[in-house]
Amino acid sequence: MIKTVHTAPYQDQKPGTSGLRKKVPVFAQENYAENFIQSIFDALEGFEGKTLVIGGDGRYYNREVIQKAIKMAAAAGFGKVMVGKGGILSTPAASNIIRKYHAFGGIILSASHNPGGPTEDFGIKYNIGNGGPAPEKITDAIFTRSKVIDTYKIADVADVDLDALGSFKVAGMQVEVIDPVADYADLMEQLFDFPAIRALIASGVHVAMDSMGAVTGPYAKEIFENRLGALEGSVRNFTPLPDFGGHHPDPNLVHAKDLYDDVMSKDGPHFGAASDGDGDRNMIVGKGMFVTPSDSLAIIAANATVAPGYAKGIAGIARSMPTSAAADRVAEKLKIGMYETPTGWKFFGNLMDAGKVTVCGEESFGTGSDHVREKDGLWAILFWLNIMAARNEGVAEIVRKHWAEYGRNYYSRHDYEEVNTEAANNLMAALREKLATLPGKTFGSLKVSAADDFAYHDPIDGSVSKNQGIRILFEGGSRIVLRLSGTGTSGATIRVYVERYEPDPAKHGIDTQEALADLIAIADEISELKKRTGRDKPSVIT
Ligand code: G6P
Ligand code: ZN
Repeated sequence: MIKTVHTAPYQDQKPGTSGLRKKVPVFAQENYAENFIQSIFDALEGFEGKTLVIGGDGRYYNREVIQKAIKMAAAAGFGKVMVGKGGILSTPAASNIIRKYHAFGGIILSASHNPGGPTEDFGIKYNIGNGGPAPEKITDAIFTRSKVIDTYKIADVADVDLDALGSFKVAGMQVEVIDPVADYADLMEQLFDFPAIRALIASGVHVAMDSMGAVTGPYAKEIFENRLGALEGSVRNFTPLPDFGGHHPDPNLVHAKDLYDDVMSKDGPHFGAASDGDGDRNMIVGKGMFVTPSDSLAIIAANATVAPGYAKGIAGIARSMPTSAAADRVAEKLKIGMYETPTGWKFFGNLMDAGKVTVCGEESFGTGSDHVREKDGLWAILFWLNIMAARNEGVAEIVRKHWAEYGRNYYSRHDYEEVNTEAANNLMAALREKLATLPGKTFGSLKVSAADDFAYHDPIDGSVSKNQGIRILFEGGSRIVLRLSGTGTSGATIRVYVERYEPDPAKHGIDTQEALADLIAIADEISELKKRTGRDKPSVIT
């Protein structure tokens, strides 16, 4: 029943920030997915007889690759595969299943917030036994293997029925088709005060959740409408579709604008939330208030003990370097550890495994905790509802009071997408050359206190990650960060992050872009961004 197939290697299967991501036509090339899956298995050791979790965000090509992965896992010697019904598992739910059932690891099929469809993106990612993305040591080994692979093994059997729950054998390996939602919804019910949230909703707080035609639909329906009593229809775009119904499933002010506008309208919902293709990102809006992901992390950390799962307090907080320092002020006040890591959720894994941090967040709409080892969109949304219920306050009130207590970190990110790769690399190189000359210089009223290329020394395993983004720090806490995106699929994306700390509550109502205008101009002056890229404005501002 096991077939050995001869294959030719591809040279471009290097996993990026979050697994291997390519357009569907690339994945559809002969043996392309098979080569990569076999390279994953070849890079691992000791999985014989153990369990592999498989699931994806339901995007185009999900089912095809799941069939291949199941048959190849059987051929490789796994003892069991647990696969979500319909091939569905959100990224945080997959992380939970791996942990809860002590699986050896998991294969998650997703390209996160990128569009889906026959000519759009697809992705394959391997997660290890702690439920988190494989560390670089493993992804490097997968890439090395993929460049020389010449055979793969696959069970020569009929396709598995993914649409009915059940347990059966495939070429001697057990396959269990599981309910993708139940375990995850149960976990959320343990962590959060569902009776309080239920009462908040029953009192007339109108909640709108936009699943953007992607994976969180069934999860959100079960949690918000079935378990928390939200009105039917509270969850929008709830059917996971292969092309996400044409949505670009990235929850931000550009792609979730309909929801934002609805919440801002007079009779619209009081609370709005959205999540991305695979369910790990989140966006939170309240009446008159968009919550920046950086503020969201700080506010969740400051109020964490209202949720039963965090009643004992949090051990520490971690944020990616470009994320604003709002959470740092909370950590200072709580007298707990604060960690600054490079961009990418995988850097939080060691800190969580070592018990150093409980909550983590990134400016890229990611928030989560040590309940799993991925960021978790619905978790963040439920945390906000739990805080609202416990404080009996709306989003805007909670945010304004937080600023009044801790000060406000004005924050914005300007993205320049699809920039010529050489121009982007030259810009960064020129900036690096300049770094040593910047400290002490003044730009307008701002004086540079330090400038460097961020390097991370992992306090747990001692590994060092260099060149993680240029930081220009000013006296008084203002900051400019520039880095190249690690997730784009065409050309280079330059990200400029600007931040200014304002302690005075009388000055907390300024428009963000206005409050940051001087820093934005300085960023351009120092990096020569407009001149070098030929762009006069960013493609996206968040
Ligand atoms: C993915 C990762 C995040 C990371 C983000 C940054 O979503 O899961 O952890 O923050 O990419 O992407 P960038 O394009 O800025 O490299
Ligand atoms: Zn995602």
